[in-house]
Amino acid sequence: MTKTILITGATDGLGKEVAHRLASQGNKVLLHGRSPEKGQAVLSDLVSATGNNTLEYFNADLSSLAEVKKLAAGILSSQQQLEVLVNNAGIGPRTPESTRSLSKDGYEIFFAVNYLAGYLLARELLPLLKSSAPARIINVASIAQAPVNFNDPMLEKYYSDGLAYSQSKLAQILHTMDLAQQLEGSGVTANSLHPATLMNTKMVLDSTALPDSRTTIDDGANAVERLILNEDMASVSGHYFDCMENAEPDAQASDPQALNKLRELSDNLVAQVI
Ligand SMILES: NC(=O)c1ccc[n+]([C@@H]2O[C@H](COP(=O)([O-])OP(=O)(O)OC[C@H]3O[C@@H](n4cnc5c(N)ncnc54)[C@H](OP(=O)(O)O)[C@@H]3O)[C@@H](O)[C@H]2O)c1
Repeated sequence: MTKTILITGATDGLGKEVAHRLASQGNKVLLHGRSPEKGQAVLSDLVSATGNNTLEYFNADLSSLAEVKKLAAGILSSQQQLEVLVNNAGIGPRTPESTRSLSKDGYEIFFAVNYLAGYLLARELLPLLKSSAPARIINVASIAQAPVNFNDPMLEKYYSDGLAYSQSKLAQILHTMDLAQQLEGSGVTANSLHPATLMNTKMVLDSTALPDSRTTIDDGANAVERLILNEDMASVSGHYFDCMENAEPDAQASDPQALNKLRELSDNLVAQVI
């Protein structure tokens, strides 16, 4: 049976490849991106490459929570069902000298784009995911992880792109663990993964803060596609995978207090804006 699958950041790299694969198999893939021109070009490329006319494109800059909310509203008003949400969009470390920058809402940019946008998107789309169950939420995180600093989550006191990226990626994993607990028995699962190490995507190729690429987009796409489609994964929830292997994330992900604190912090940050 084909599925309706929303993939954020489907205009490049890993998200685009996963979208291509799923579209080739007849699924209704809802592509998301931040540039209407690039998004429409990717949409028409994928429609002609796969012959799948059910694909749709949705635009939203994830550095604005208002745009995230509008994206969710657009999905809710246009789709009868949604079986999979893949929070894949993200930004990576730029240069070793890069300084702290802020989202459109004034939040530290990595925390906002890589984590908070996906938090809000999942929160808004949960009713549709639940009514479409069995359904899956997949958060594309990373092996680069740093504990969320609840005393300084916006990293005003000490900053590097590497720290900001790693904090945002562990926040995604904490969010996944929290969701899995809340969603027990609902038919909606939540898992996170490190797709592959240093894939040959724009994020890695454009960075001077990261080593050279070591793996391919196909490697990461294999790991993401497995979580989206494999029947073996249907009832697996609350897990973190290092590529294809079940793995242990940073210890903060199993601290119930940290999960509560992150949910409260996230709801407060969202409430201050929308
Ligand atoms: N590459 C790796 O080795 C690696 C390793 C571990 C984890 N990951 C994770 O894998 C995911 C995909 O990364 P990738 O390597 O495929 O990177 P990528 O090629 O740079 O693609 C990132 C995608 O996210 C979109 N995006 C970035 N900022 C956005 C914003 N503010 N609003 C909306 N969309 C935005 C990009 O849009 P544009 O097309 O407009 O730029 C693009 O579609 C990320 O979450 C990353 O952290 C990657």
